[in-house]
Amino acid sequence: MALAPTSTSTIPGPGRSGSLSTTLAFQRDPLGFLSKMLEQYGNVVRLPVLGMPMVVINHPDDVKKVLQDNHVDFDKDAAIFELVQPLLGDGLISVVGGASWMSRRRLIQPSFHRKRIEDMTQVMLSHSEDMLRRWSGFAADGTDIDVGREMSQITLRIVARTLFAVDIGAEGATHPYAQALEVMMKELSAFLQFPIIPLRAPTPGHRRFWKNIRIMDGFVYDMIGRYRAGTAENQGDLLYMLMNAQDADTGEKMDDRQLRDEITSFLFAGHETSANALTWTIQMLTEHPDVESRLREEIDRVVGDREPTMADLPKLSYLTAVINENLRVNPPIWQIMRHARVDGELGGYRIPAGSNVFWSPYLVHRNPDFWPDPEKFDPDRFAPDLARGIHKGAFIPFSAGPRICIGNTFAMTEIQLILTRILQRFRFESRTEQPLRKVPNISLWPDKPIRIALQPR
Ligand code: HEM
Repeated sequence: MALAPTSTSTIPGPGRSGSLSTTLAFQRDPLGFLSKMLEQYGNVVRLPVLGMPMVVINHPDDVKKVLQDNHVDFDKDAAIFELVQPLLGDGLISVVGGASWMSRRRLIQPSFHRKRIEDMTQVMLSHSEDMLRRWSGFAADGTDIDVGREMSQITLRIVARTLFAVDIGAEGATHPYAQALEVMMKELSAFLQFPIIPLRAPTPGHRRFWKNIRIMDGFVYDMIGRYRAGTAENQGDLLYMLMNAQDADTGEKMDDRQLRDEITSFLFAGHETSANALTWTIQMLTEHPDVESRLREEIDRVVGDREPTMADLPKLSYLTAVINENLRVNPPIWQIMRHARVDGELGGYRIPAGSNVFWSPYLVHRNPDFWPDPEKFDPDRFAPDLARGIHKGAFIPFSAGPRICIGNTFAMTEIQLILTRILQRFRFESRTEQPLRKVPNISLWPDKPIRIALQPR
């Protein structure tokens, strides 16, 4: 296909005059709207949203090119992170640009080595034990549980304990940090649905947002203060590493604001997504009893009643397949964007420098050329011999390339261990109100709480 010289005007898509209607349609139902656009215009679509021209891609070759093969040409975009700046600041997730990002990533990477994660499994298991002890009480008195809340609580506890050596409150009790985080997230989600009135404008919702950010910051700065004062014990955790790391060029150490941004980014990224994946996986099991019983059979055979270990995990291949199939159908991060730094080419079209390139893992994971019968929940797609043949750009729940999720092994280990423990102890029955809709916000959550009733096995 011939390449146009400098603009995106040759890329198919709705005309510029439709910018307002496009924006409204995107805001109302982003996944439905994008899916319609891809169906109508193909795997590369030009879309003006919120006055910002976007190039939407949906072919795994193009996704792989942006994330991996030509990653230097496509960077994160500071303008997008402006929206979540009050929460994440300049932590690893939002930092733009090659060299500054790379030195930070190198600094943090050792905290996620396999050996370190193996050491963390004891914390993951003991927090699971606390949760399940409490669940036994619910099973005895017939109380339903809200799976999303339970999973958010346990994953937040695990990430705080493993990475920062802090206990974010006893199991079942809601810590002020967790409470503030929940309210802040609600307000941030409302803002992101329609980010027109700036967060600084003092609407009641925005005031609540800032109040809770201050509560969260108070907790994090207090943690930093205790470390600096030497009253916190060095447990070889990420905070200790960050605090003592020196910039290779300047010799400077991170100041409190930089530490705050990093801690908050990890507490946030390290629990919201894993909680989401656990919640949807449990929902998928309630909808597919055949999958659930095959999974229980595998866990009974490989692990029995004892505590699972890291060495068991490679043998639990159906468990891994179920988790992956859920991440395909319900990827927690449903949208990703990059900014073209130089002129490039995607899908045969010229992509001028400055373009915003957008894709949705949710839609890429439904590309029918790569995923036959894409809506069907079928873990066998990830059977070990088939999984090896999956295109590197077709399954991207953790992204790909150098900026792939740093916590992917942490997350998979945590999800595998928690699910194994739950399935060893309980059977469950859905009590979720139907119909269930998916709400694409910061991550992809159901519109109603996922509720289950528990029976001990
Ligand atoms: C199922 C769970 C998870 C999913 C689906 C997930 C997904 C993702 C995705 C898609 C990205 C790339 C975003 C982009 O390129 O714009 C990412 C980056 C990141 N994730 Fe995760 N994540 C998960 C769990 C975790 C955990 C447990 C942690 C930490 C303990 C974590 C920390 C991060 C960080 C720090 C980044 C930025 C990495 C960088 O830019 O170098 N994530 N994650």
